[in-house]
Amino acid sequence: MSKEIVVSGIRSTGFLHLGNYFGAMRNYVKMQEDYNCYFFVADYHSLTTHPDPKDLRGNVYRVVAENIAAGLDPDKVALYAQSDLPEIPELYLMLNMLAYKGELEKVPTFKDKVRQQPENVNAGLLTYPVLMTADILIHKAVKVPVGKDQEQHIEMARNFAGRFNGRYGELFPEPQPFNFGDTLVKVPSLDGAGKMSKSEHGNATLYLADEDDAIRKKVMKAKTDSGPTEHNSTMPEYIQNVFQLMNLVSTSEITESYRAAYNGCTIRYGDMKKQLAEDMVNFIRPIREKAVALQADETKMMAVLRHGAEKARESASRTISEARKLIGINYY
Ligand code: ADP
Ligand code: TRP
Repeated sequence: MSKEIVVSGIRSTGFLHLGNYFGAMRNYVKMQEDYNCYFFVADYHSLTTHPDPKDLRGNVYRVVAENIAAGLDPDKVALYAQSDLPEIPELYLMLNMLAYKGELEKVPTFKDKVRQQPENVNAGLLTYPVLMTADILIHKAVKVPVGKDQEQHIEMARNFAGRFNGRYGELFPEPQPFNFGDTLVKVPSLDGAGKMSKSEHGNATLYLADEDDAIRKKVMKAKTDSGPTEHNSTMPEYIQNVFQLMNLVSTSEITESYRAAYNGCTIRYGDMKKQLAEDMVNFIRPIREKAVALQADETKMMAVLRHGAEKARESASRTISEARKLIGINYY
């Protein structure tokens, strides 16, 4: 039986963090054995925020290096840069004709960006979900490992796929978001507000490139309070967040002992955070060390990207000729 096709991307907009790891990368690593995987660096998507041209190469190498350091094997998957596949912008153009201004303006991530950067509300930002759809459909993926924040974008990809099929004939499957486990992951930020993210909350986000002491400092600053006064009381969200982080990197015995201490009102958040900081350091350190070494090996980074693009182009060119034919673009 042929393997199911999987696509996912990470924007090269900064340092990867724990949210990227648990929302996306961990799933990539697990999926590489049993699925036909296409994982890419979304460098075109990063252009919506006008990065400095001299930063692009380093940012792209870092995403590649951190993924390999986290366990991704470029021989088992196609690991490539989005901009190496001209078929993606071609499909994006085709899909843009089927995407309506009204629906794109309603997307919450677009509305957030309008609020964050009112001086730069460009068309690329508006059509961001269309480019994402092209990324996914270019390989006819059925599963897309992403964090919770991307759920709505994948729903739009399903709509656009259905719309293309309805107008031109059956070509694309309807992709589903994917996570090992029951629900999509949202790794909270350390300040108790929102999620960890590349571009915001520098001090409230744990990066895979953070040094041991930076990790300790950030964890110790996580928002807590003087502790519960009644047995088995409901946890405020910021305390739930600390427990959630502990769940990710500490053993279940450790997490359960603090949960029991919380319920019995004997919890000491200082101790809990010290424990969490050490477990976090032990989790991040090996990834960081490996990634730093890989990133410095430019020859290797180039070879990985070149090889990945070759693999990915095969399926992309097949899809784009099918799409052209269905649309009627075949003149000779
Ligand atoms: P960011 O939002 O940090 O800029 P990206 O947009 O490039 O990161 O996201 C890459 C992947 O990481 C996506 O699958 C996204 O859902 C996931 N992701 C990002 N932040 C988190 C988070 N805090 N929790 C879970 N998954 C996340
Ligand atoms: N938009 C995604 C994010 O911000 C990154 C991304 C771009 C992506 N294209 C994709 C994720 C295709 C999955 C599939 O997280």
